[in-house]
Amino acid sequence: MEEAIAGRLKALKEKYAASGQELLDFLDGLLEADYLTYWDYIRLDSLLSLQQPRTSHHDEPIFIMYHQITELYFKLVLHELEPLLTSSANQEVVTEAIRRSNRYFGALEHSFGVMVDGMDREQFLRFRMALIPASGFQSGQYRMIELASAKLNDLVHIDNREKLANELDTEVLMNHIYWLRGATIEKDGQKTLTLVQFEQKYGEEFLKRAKRSQGHTISEQAARWHAEGSLSDALKQELRAFDQYVNVLWPLQHYRSAVRYLAKQPSDARATGGTNWQKYLPPRFQKRIFFPYLWSQQEVDDWGKSFVDRYVSSV
Ligand code: HEM
Repeated sequence: MEEAIAGRLKALKEKYAASGQELLDFLDGLLEADYLTYWDYIRLDSLLSLQQPRTSHHDEPIFIMYHQITELYFKLVLHELEPLLTSSANQEVVTEAIRRSNRYFGALEHSFGVMVDGMDREQFLRFRMALIPASGFQSGQYRMIELASAKLNDLVHIDNREKLANELDTEVLMNHIYWLRGATIEKDGQKTLTLVQFEQKYGEEFLKRAKRSQGHTISEQAARWHAEGSLSDALKQELRAFDQYVNVLWPLQHYRSAVRYLAKQPSDARATGGTNWQKYLPPRFQKRIFFPYLWSQQEVDDWGKSFVDRYVSSV
């Protein structure tokens, strides 16, 4: 028998013996097993069966698939951010994770034309009526990215942010989280059905995550390095770019699609989730900022007004 094969067999025998297993049984299993195929490995048939339109409009699958693509990118971002919340990661590790996350958000920002220009407006306006009250507002992963990145106090609605700047109770802070305002009917304070359903599905999970990551969010970790003067230029640059991608550039592209399809409708308020989206979606009104200590007062004042600092050149 070839020396290399004999060596591997010996190593395998030791591996299985260590857990009380017989190598021979595993070799028999190997003889029976089929070759792995591409389509089985990536679960292609399942993936391609996940598009289930509610109407027969040609463009509805585009809408479904682009949302699914976006959720997969969100999952990639969370795949990078979540390990940072539990371990005491060093700056190089955080820099690489945020660099990857920026690459994913960059892909989303650049591909948003699939929504903005890629569907027939008349068809969109028809098939969306079959989707009420579902809305991208209910994307749990989008909020999980925010909860992992920002200090919870910085996700409080801008009207109460200053007042609750030093509040430590996560439940109090979650009761003032910015997105409630986007799905609450202004005149009577009632929650929209979109929000009620969203809270039923994710409310507990969000609170659990907020509690778990308090003090360890990306922002709070970086703030400590910033305060002690050790925050590297490379990490600072990636964090600023991330803040721009998540809180300005992606929201602006997203807002463009709302304007293209929903503006000048008899009633703009009839967004699928029922928000007054004209007031809610523009980043300049919300001023969501993950890393406020990395921006000058002028930059904060100008937040979301244009594609300022597009390439985040000054660190
Ligand atoms: C034609 C395309 C789109 C239009 C017209 C649109 C419209 C809207 C509107 C009007 C809202 C406000 C909530 C509501 O009343 O429904 C909203 C929220 C939201 N949508 Fe979209 N959307 C589009 C595509 C997408 C895509 C592809 C995603 C990806 C997951 C997405 C994710 C979100 C998120 C995360 C929010 C909450 C934003 C926030 O709270 O600031 N949307 N969308």
